[in-house]
Amino acid sequence: MGEAIIIDGAAVICRRAKLAEIFELRWTLLRENMSRSAAEFNGDDAPSTRHYGAFLDGRNVGCVSFMLNEWEGEPAYQLRGMATVDDLQGRGIGRTLLDAALNDLKKSGETARLWCNARVPAIGFYDKMGWQRIGHPFDIPTAGPHYKMAYELEGAKESRDGR
Ligand SMILES: CC(C)(COP(=O)(O)OP(=O)(O)OC[C@H]1O[C@@H](n2cnc3c(N)ncnc32)[C@H](O)[C@@H]1OP(=O)(O)O)[C@@H](O)C(=O)NCCC(=O)NCCS
Repeated sequence: MGEAIIIDGAAVICRRAKLAEIFELRWTLLRENMSRSAAEFNGDDAPSTRHYGAFLDGRNVGCVSFMLNEWEGEPAYQLRGMATVDDLQGRGIGRTLLDAALNDLKKSGETARLWCNARVPAIGFYDKMGWQRIGHPFDIPTAGPHYKMAYELEGAKESRDGR
């Protein structure tokens, strides 16, 4: 799996990654000035968890992770730790990275249901990516106001009645 976007003549490769490849970026961008443990998520090391990164000349410039965590009582992947490095935001990396991740998750056969707690300033991104807002905004002490958002993978390999 891997998808690329060209930015200023250079390829940004979006692919599955090891946690160690994306952790510093997650920590720096999403838990700035907090301890390392604040950037460690439940399930980071679970075999079912999938991490993805965007890489420009080997530099990690985007990250996102998916953990199995149920939604409305059903198996679902929770999107966590989505970020693009400040100087390259708005250039299509987030879209390419999320598309690459969702294409890969479709093949996993785990579940077609996805959800996330989306930061209010980032809601427009998830709107553009076709995610649906659920309910009212709520506060997360480490990261401010959020909406729950959900997305259904089309054409996922999941067996609807068998799992
Ligand atoms: C949210 C974030 C991951 C988006 O990544 P990105 O690489 O900047 O996104 P892209 O350039 O691929 O944008 C895709 C589309 O979403 C739009 N978009 C991106 N961020 C947006 C935002 N905050 N508000 C409204 N629209 C946004 C872009 O304009 C683009 O629209 P287009 O296709 O019509 O041109 C990035 O801005 C980020 O890291 N923000 C800070 C950390 C954060 O809040 N993460 C989310 C935690 S829930």
